[in-house]
Amino acid sequence: MGYMDLDSINKIKLTIENQISNISSIKDLEELRISSFGKKGSFTSLMKGLKEVREDKRKEFGALLNKTKKELEYFLNEKREKLKKEKILKELKKEWIDVTLPIYEETKTNSVGSLHPESLVREELEKIFLRLGFSVVDGPEVESEYYNFEALNVPSSHPARDMQDTFFTNLGSVLRTHTSSIQVRALEKLDPPLRIVAPGRCYRCERLDASHEHTFYQMEGMMVDKVVSVSHLVYFLKTLLREIFGYEVKIRLRPGYFPFVEPGFEIDTWFNGKWLEMLGCGLVHPKVLEYGGIDSGKWQGFAFGIGLSRLTMLRYQIDDIRHLQGGNLKFLKQFS
Ligand code: PHE
Repeated sequence: MGYMDLDSINKIKLTIENQISNISSIKDLEELRISSFGKKGSFTSLMKGLKEVREDKRKEFGALLNKTKKELEYFLNEKREKLKKEKILKELKKEWIDVTLPIYEETKTNSVGSLHPESLVREELEKIFLRLGFSVVDGPEVESEYYNFEALNVPSSHPARDMQDTFFTNLGSVLRTHTSSIQVRALEKLDPPLRIVAPGRCYRCERLDASHEHTFYQMEGMMVDKVVSVSHLVYFLKTLLREIFGYEVKIRLRPGYFPFVEPGFEIDTWFNGKWLEMLGCGLVHPKVLEYGGIDSGKWQGFAFGIGLSRLTMLRYQIDDIRHLQGGNLKFLKQFS
């Protein structure tokens, strides 16, 4: 480059700036750097022309060329950083993998959940009994043999204690086989007179079919007072059934054997022309009261254990108990 003036410096600056702006790869940018500022680069040769400039102007041009070079290099470096960032982001996007499971179609279209039918029935029962002066209590699902059997007067030879019926843990606990395990826990904690219900999940080593599940729900009920008779028991149970089903449900009492009640009964209900076994109940055995630290000479009680799962099935006309634990959203959504 021979002749040099301010205009030619400005022009070459604008040209290089434009080129930098339009570049979209690091490789192209590097090529531009060499073709502009390399040994034979356009800007380099412009600087080489400086020695041909008149002496009195040389200083001024030199300063301008240096300043321009610095500005262009700064611009170029900025562009390089930007391109690098873009490249990394692109790679990250390409390498991104989705580790989440696809969700059910049903969930996508209806994001509003609903309570499980057993929860609906449990809540209804709780409300009924709260109105009748009962309180709702709880107990552990992994239970000691003591509360599940011993304190309920169940002898160690009783078939319910058999490995075939009960899930035992390695550490000698059991998965509670009924909510009756809460009876003595409640007696220990509360002073009579007392009225409690205790809903909860229970486990039995059952072979699965339409009416047997290894996991199911019960609700225990217990009342302890100075005078408690079978007619109290019948009154509360009839009230419960009337409220749940909306009409006077016909019931029948049969003698039933449970070591923790005396006398003991099974109560059947009349549904669709058949007697259905609904619950076990009776007057609390004096030994159980004593286990709970309550003087059986002064206090009496009744207890019942109602099959919450069974009740739910009757209430919503569910024909197979396996639906309850099945987790099928199509089934569950019907109760929203
Ligand atoms: N626990 C008994 C069962 O699971 C039911 C029951 C409860 C019986 C309370 C009598 C009193 O079958």
